Amino acid sequence: QRPVLRLLSCPGTVAEGLRRDEPLSGSAETGSEEKTPEKKFFEVQNERRDQAQRTVLIHCPNKISEKKFLKYLSQYGPINNHFFYESFGLYAVVEFCQKESISSLQNGTHTPSAGMEAAIPFRSRFFNLKFKNPSHQASEPAAIQFSNQLPPSSRKLFDLLCCAKSVDDQLNTLLKEFEVTEENTKLRYLTCSLIEDIAAAYFPDCTVRPFGSSVNTFGKLGCDLDMFLDLGETGKPSTDKTLGNFLMEFQMKSVPSERIATQKILSVIGECLDHFGPGCVGVQKILNARCPLVRFSHQPSGFQCDLTTNNRIALKSSELLYIYGSLDSRVRALVFSIRSWARAHSLTSSIPGAWITNFSLTMMVIFFLQRRSPPILPTLDLLKTLADAEDKCMIEGNNCTFVRDLNRIHPSGNTETLELLLKEFFEYFGNFAFNKYSLNIRQGKEQNKPDSSPLYIQNPFETSLNISKNVSQSQLQKFVDLARESAWILQQEDQGPQSPSNHQPWGLAALLLPSRVSTKSLAKKKSKKAASERVKNLLESIKKNRTENLTST
Ligand code: CTP
Ligand code: MG
Repeated sequence: QRPVLRLLSCPGTVAEGLRRDEPLSGSAETGSEEKTPEKKFFEVQNERRDQAQRTVLIHCPNKISEKKFLKYLSQYGPINNHFFYESFGLYAVVEFCQKESISSLQNGTHTPSAGMEAAIPFRSRFFNLKFKNPSHQASEPAAIQFSNQLPPSSRKLFDLLCCAKSVDDQLNTLLKEFEVTEENTKLRYLTCSLIEDIAAAYFPDCTVRPFGSSVNTFGKLGCDLDMFLDLGETGKPSTDKTLGNFLMEFQMKSVPSERIATQKILSVIGECLDHFGPGCVGVQKILNARCPLVRFSHQPSGFQCDLTTNNRIALKSSELLYIYGSLDSRVRALVFSIRSWARAHSLTSSIPGAWITNFSLTMMVIFFLQRRSPPILPTLDLLKTLADAEDKCMIEGNNCTFVRDLNRIHPSGNTETLELLLKEFFEYFGNFAFNKYSLNIRQGKEQNKPDSSPLYIQNPFETSLNISKNVSQSQLQKFVDLARESAWILQQEDQGPQSPSNHQPWGLAALLLPSRVSTKSLAKKKSKKAASERVKNLLESIKKNRTENLTST
């Protein structure tokens, strides 16, 4: 069941345009298949970062000949790969084979004469390409193929789901349509690399790394881009063994706390992005949040970016999710469908508030998969016991150790179908005692809640924190009601594909339609609760009948 992340494993060797899981699509590892060893998270990150540093972003004129464009750019050095995409204009992402080509291109580039306005002469890797003589442009250039950076429309998704062969096929189709593509991943790493160039004006040795859904295997086309400004660890003794009895330290300014240091750093980077960052618009400094951040839009890529610093634990939790997402091909399929289901019913929102987040939903799926018999996913404690000395990791006093080599984790012996897991997920959480228990993926079991938050999901590394602290009782109730209703829809009939002419929603498609529960007015909350209880009872009676039928058979 384990997916082989072939593209991540051998970047550059795979034909362009393939999606990350295309060669696998549901393939189980068989003895005869060529086995590609999965890369460790940081190896993937470093490889991608290296590619991004050799890459440029170019705004192109609309009528451009791809052949001439590549010929023109090749004069600066050989090109490894490229793609075009549209986002309020035509853009090209071009990866050179060597880093030197970039400075050669920058040296051959002009600073624009901005007419009435004045340009800030910041030389980045984001360019604007123009025709020297606009009348010489290709009259009918061959059609350029665009790489798509957006998820499919609800209509298209709906049609695809209705035409699928089974519920399992539906879940895999949804995953394939929504997951970030190879090109989108490249664009995300490139955007971080461009931001790193700006931050390097202050901190020359800094690294800007993507984290969250862009890298944890649960990213959906169109999701935000979380970035982490890594300035290295302070207070860590140098491993450099110099001769003599002395130890050299930098003279540095001190501030009263780590938080103030973070705020000061993000404040200047925010200013810098606002004033000098080409394509960075709508810069907001949100420095009083629990985790201070700078939010902005990177216009050419279309990404909504959240830049934080001093956030190593979040990077580690992205690595943990990467492990879980890569262990078994059912994990991502289930997470993507549950997230789409939650979005379709407004359980999640792009605006922060009292609703469940995608991150919490992912944790709920992981927890659920740990609870299957036999478990589909190992507990974090088990991953910790599999760790070796090199995996040891302490961050701010928190033990973040777990095995990082995917090949050392045994695949699960569980063979349950996605259809069954989807049904059981809704049933499990439709009946979970949220009032009593918290979810703990470290131990893979529920525990008594340490406080009265309606939904308590323990942060796996900062164990005194609840990652779903923001969720209100009414939002949790809405989740429970919808989960019960969805379990009921899936139980009600033996869902199966309809004839192609009959585009009746079935299976997952039926679950993404507006719910009867959520369309009821808030004033009818009481009767809603009663309805939810009725659904629960009906569900139990169906199950009971089934068991009885089975027994009598
Ligand atoms: N995070 C965390 N604790 C939280 C919220 C977030 O540790 N309470 C970390 C997680 O590693 C998460 C990352 O910050 O993946 C980014 O948060 P967010 O953007 O909210 O979630 P994503 O996983 O990126 O999902 P989405 O696609 O909705 O952006
Ligand atoms: Mg995110």
